[in-house]
Amino acid sequence: MDRMAEDVVRRGRLSGERSGEMVHFLSSMDADRCIADADILVDIAHVLMLSQKRIIERKTAQDLLAALLDLYDNGIPESVFDERFEDVHAGIESYLIAKIGEETGGRLHIGRSRNDEVATCLRIRVREDVTRQLSILLGLRQVLLARAEEHGTTVMPGFTHLQYAQPTTLAHHLLSHEAAFARDCERLREAFSRINRCPLGSAAFATTSYPIDRELSASLLGFDSILENTMDAVSSRDFILELLADLSILMAHASRLCEELVVWSSSFARFVELGDAFCSTSSIMPQKKNPDSAEVMRAKAGSVLGATVSAFTIQKALPQSYNRDLQEMTPALLRGIQDAKHSTRILADMLSSASFHSDQMAAEAGKGYSTATDLADMLVQKHGMPFRTAHTLVGKAIRKGSLTLATLDAVATEEGFVRPSDLGVTPDEITSALDVSQSIDRRRAPGGPSPFAVKISLANRWKALEDEKKMLEERRAALSGAVARLISDARKEVSR
Ligand code: ARG
Repeated sequence: MDRMAEDVVRRGRLSGERSGEMVHFLSSMDADRCIADADILVDIAHVLMLSQKRIIERKTAQDLLAALLDLYDNGIPESVFDERFEDVHAGIESYLIAKIGEETGGRLHIGRSRNDEVATCLRIRVREDVTRQLSILLGLRQVLLARAEEHGTTVMPGFTHLQYAQPTTLAHHLLSHEAAFARDCERLREAFSRINRCPLGSAAFATTSYPIDRELSASLLGFDSILENTMDAVSSRDFILELLADLSILMAHASRLCEELVVWSSSFARFVELGDAFCSTSSIMPQKKNPDSAEVMRAKAGSVLGATVSAFTIQKALPQSYNRDLQEMTPALLRGIQDAKHSTRILADMLSSASFHSDQMAAEAGKGYSTATDLADMLVQKHGMPFRTAHTLVGKAIRKGSLTLATLDAVATEEGFVRPSDLGVTPDEITSALDVSQSIDRRRAPGGPSPFAVKISLANRWKALEDEKKMLEERRAALSGAVARLISDARKEVSR
């Protein structure tokens, strides 16, 4: 049966034709496709609760559940998604009434409203998206750790202000990005706990006079708890704001990494080459290989932030409780989720495909007096010079273009400082202070660039990743277990 059902929501109070433009303007159907499956689950849980509380008769519940299970098993017919319905909730209810008759189908919406229905559907949908995003992020972190492991001793210039600053290891650099993505995971995990609360039973906002059991509906749907205040429950979308804000931060992190991949791929850096699959060429210049995927991803950070700003401005200053403005948040939500999902999944593959040019990195690592700090530190550590004096001496010597003992002595004389050679400084000490690999090796503090520190960091990071994977697996099992139980409860009820 897939003929067009009558719109059961509008038929009472309203009459007359609406223009096609008006129909399209008001309907959330397009975006609602993303919550259609969730809506079936919500309907099933609601009917089970109504039946258990003897608010509807068993036979009514059985017929409703049979029709809902049919949609669950065989999919929702296209006619349900007609824009004449203001949303998927009206579409599904109208479809059911047309299919099984109003005597039964007309009892589905007892004690609830589309307001608590949509809020519940969105939370069900979003909690799935959050777990998917978490698993993608764990994959990305895994790639970063694996690449860092490969490059534990690969020397490269470290930057501040995009100027060579001090030598570091590629592992150290990659681990810095992994650390940021780890906090993104943490944020999403925490957001999940606020997402997974159930608004169902709030009805329009003031709950209902039927003896419903909100706790039962919530637990049937795998929620951790109910959202208690029913006015808040139907009108709050801070779970969406929070998720989009978290995704914006995540994308800001991704865009920084992408920016580096673009700069590192440049003809003047040549630190990295991305796999062909992640690059484009030019329609006129046959030699070109451009890191376009990294550029698009860098831009997607802007798109996700744009979606976030849309959502915030829609929610801002809305009076309690439900207002139709809220439906306009759904497309923004979806846009943010989709862009972040695709970007981070592709980023992991893009990083796997990257060939890092270790020789080029190492050749650049010592340029631009990048070990000058080490020379100043040597004068302090071995010869008791005040750090500021050493810093000044080395800086002035660099202005003269040389870091030999003779230049340092000449500068000291000019500036009225004690001469390094009078302190017993030797040319060998200067050479070893300025040596790039010794410079890196000396930096053994936790979280630092030396192969020694990197090895410890890597062990910690792999362990953190494993812990996060376990937590996610438990979450996923809990959610899929809840849905499986709900469906099997519904099947049992039908065949009682
Ligand atoms: N489609 C609406 C939304 O996405 C839900 C329906 C609530 N409609 C209403 N008129 N109260 O938020």
